[in-house]
Amino acid sequence: MMPRGWLSITARLSLAFAMVSVTLFTGVAVYLYRALDQQLMQRHMDELATKVVLVRHTLEEIASATDVADAMLRSPNTVSAPDRLHVRLLGVDGQLLFASDLVPIPTEVLGSPAPVAEVPSDFRVWKNATGDRYLATSAYARLGKPSMQPLLISVALDVREEHDVLLSRFGARLMLAVVSGTTLAALLGWLVAARGLRSVRRIAAAAARITSDRLHKRLDERTAPAELADLVHAFNEMLARLEESFSYLEDFSSDLAHELRTPINNLMGQAEVTLAEARRPEEYQLLLESNMEEYGRLSRMISDMLFIAKVGRYQMPLNREDVNVRSAIEKILAFFDALLEERGIEVALRGELIVSADRILLQRAITNLLSNAVRYTQRGESIGLVIFREGDGRATIEVNNPGPPIPPEHLPRIFDRFYRVDRARSHSYENSGLGLAIVKSIMRLHDGAATVSSVPGDLTRFRLTFP
Ligand SMILES: Nc1ncnc2c1ncn2[C@@H]1O[C@H](COP(=O)(O)OP(=O)(O)O)[C@@H](O)[C@H]1O
Ligand SMILES: [Mg+2]
Repeated sequence: MMPRGWLSITARLSLAFAMVSVTLFTGVAVYLYRALDQQLMQRHMDELATKVVLVRHTLEEIASATDVADAMLRSPNTVSAPDRLHVRLLGVDGQLLFASDLVPIPTEVLGSPAPVAEVPSDFRVWKNATGDRYLATSAYARLGKPSMQPLLISVALDVREEHDVLLSRFGARLMLAVVSGTTLAALLGWLVAARGLRSVRRIAAAAARITSDRLHKRLDERTAPAELADLVHAFNEMLARLEESFSYLEDFSSDLAHELRTPINNLMGQAEVTLAEARRPEEYQLLLESNMEEYGRLSRMISDMLFIAKVGRYQMPLNREDVNVRSAIEKILAFFDALLEERGIEVALRGELIVSADRILLQRAITNLLSNAVRYTQRGESIGLVIFREGDGRATIEVNNPGPPIPPEHLPRIFDRFYRVDRARSHSYENSGLGLAIVKSIMRLHDGAATVSSVPGDLTRFRLTFP
């Protein structure tokens, strides 16, 4: 198992926040850095171009190349430039006419000079041996006397201070902003995620409070956030299923204990009475015989209960096959023959159908219905077995018998286990009240249904319907 909290959702979200913001911030920072770089460069170029124009003006006022240095020194516009700006003037044949300082910018780095009437557009960056960077350009200029050959102006700007240093400071600040922005975003992400996940923790706490004796509790689906509503709903449904099987088990075991108590008490009572004094062997034999009957009934009841329990948990394999219901019933009737004859009861079998069912289980269900019907039918009367299709096409097997109708208040519970309409009288020990419960279980396994109708003046009808 992963250690608890290892990359929790909160951690993942805040990591994601951090990643998104580092990408975003870095993008913005790079953009800003480049934009400033370009803006500054543009300004430097403008400055150099302006310088060229000023120097041209100064030169237009003189007539001879020998006056150039003088004029330049006199003109405040051109020379009192900051010392980061360097101006040189060369004659036609390359001789140096003026230099504002000693920075030797090689002519070959200057690119092509702008013609006399044009503003310079070819700017070059030059780096000297000590690492200083210069932006430089060149242009032709004319002296006041038009017949003279043009001069070459070259201007260079030391961009280290105003550009490189400034940019690197700006870059450092940007980096700091990116780092702190990212940290802040991660932190905020953490807070937001932790806050967002509060409802998860609340649900977990509520779920933790649900114990086996509080299975009726549900999580509140209305207050759950939309993303968790499905989860909460599923959880509640699981609780409902748990509660149902839990109470099923509870009822089951209490029913079982309840039903076992009476016969076992009876057995104990009889043994006690018999043991109270010396008896003749025939009496012991009688007792054991009666006990045997009771044991047999108990054993049947236990296996019935086991059957119902298995079916209730859907652990019964269903061997479906096409069953000819009529011939299945005929086989059952063969077993009932002697009993029917003894009771003087007729059976009328009508209809014929094939259903897909587990043959053994189907026979068991029909047997249970038939044995009930036999019990409640008077001598000389007749039990009906009808196989037919319902209006909607469902295969149906009906077992009907005349006799006292079942009071309507009992009808809804008649298929419950251990339910007998006349509890007192039915302790004749032959019936445990499990027969119809088994019928219902079998039909449920088949996705079918068992129903009953019993109204005064009509037959009591039990129906098995298959989907
Ligand atoms: N054909 C019927 N006519 C009248 N009552 C019936 C009929 N079948 C079942 N019952 C009632 O339903 C109860 C439950 O039946 P069942 O589950 O088979 O248990 P058991 O037969 O062991 O009593 C019976 O005790 C009886 O009261
Ligand atoms: Mg029965």
